[in-house]
Amino acid sequence: MKYNNIKNKVVLVRLDLNVPIENGKIVDDYRVISTYQTIDTLLKNKNKIIITSHLGEDGESLEPVHKYLNKKYKDLLFIKSTDQKEIKLIVNDKLSLINKKSKTNLIMLENLRCFEGEKLNSAAFAKFLASLADVYVYDAFAVAHRKHASVVSVARYLPHCVGPLITNELKGLAPTQKINNKTLFILGGAKISTKLPLIDKYLEKGATVFVGGAMAHNIMLSQGISIGASLYDKDINNKTLAKKAAFKTNRLYIPYDYITSQNKIGNTSQKLTNQAIYDLGPETFSMIKKLIEAHKTIIVNGPLGLYEKGYDKGSVAILRYLASDKCKAKTIIAGGGDTVTLIEKVKLNKRFTFVSTGGGAMLYYMEKGELPGIVANK
Ligand code: 3PG
Repeated sequence: MKYNNIKNKVVLVRLDLNVPIENGKIVDDYRVISTYQTIDTLLKNKNKIIITSHLGEDGESLEPVHKYLNKKYKDLLFIKSTDQKEIKLIVNDKLSLINKKSKTNLIMLENLRCFEGEKLNSAAFAKFLASLADVYVYDAFAVAHRKHASVVSVARYLPHCVGPLITNELKGLAPTQKINNKTLFILGGAKISTKLPLIDKYLEKGATVFVGGAMAHNIMLSQGISIGASLYDKDINNKTLAKKAAFKTNRLYIPYDYITSQNKIGNTSQKLTNQAIYDLGPETFSMIKKLIEAHKTIIVNGPLGLYEKGYDKGSVAILRYLASDKCKAKTIIAGGGDTVTLIEKVKLNKRFTFVSTGGGAMLYYMEKGELPGIVANK
């Protein structure tokens, strides 16, 4: 089954509408806009659609996203209830293909994570979701690394396929599978323990890797560099890190200088006591520019400073450089929620070869070359 051949059906669509929301408003709508192609094609083919997504870790309401989508798709009915019987009644009444009186074409369910079975990957919950529709379209790239009911299990009970966003992501991320000595991977964020296999893979295949953000603090510790009160990942033993063979190459880079919590410039040869490292320093920025100039494929994912506290200057400077005419790289790929929000904020989107809607999913794909949600729904 192909999503653009689905006609006159009730279609359950899994999207990733997990967007940052502040004071009830969407801060970055890149993921939402990326779903329009899926919805529009299904509507054009006279289908009735049930939109599903998660939002946040647990039980936040999808209402702000509904409000946003409702501006484009008028009469998008939002079912706030999580009572399965009630949902079924509403869906049957409003979306029935026989009920000619109903003008409703689009229904949106509440955050899937408000339902008990979603994160537990319960078969009963997957069956319930499947019972609402004739076919399933999975188009939630950014959550495809999670083995949740809507990601991997609904497909067992309904004819299914992946949507256009997934196809687009696989095409856009294809260069991340062709790693060689012309590849530069700029990786930021907090948890190095979960990203070690990916860093290893890139180093082993000849790429150059720059690690920034709190992850770099673990590498600093493993090299005996003082990090003062900086954040670091406590789930990894820094002595183990020090022994890692892949880490001994001269293609693994970390910040050389930095901005501290007191907005001072420091560097890795100094001893930090009460202060913490918050962002990249100017010499590190120059170093990264040289690395960019020496590579053809640049992949960037994750913030390189303490983004939550507004320390995004280093990340923005790198993104601006990548998007400028000075950057001669052939392929520039970006991903990761915070990185994409920054790209949107400084309006650089069109200058990148590809901007992924995925954060963790992009990294999972880079490491393993596949994703559970795509394998299950193909
Ligand atoms: C993301 O933002 O990376 C995806 O929507 C997945 O969200 P999660 O990390 O809460 O599973």
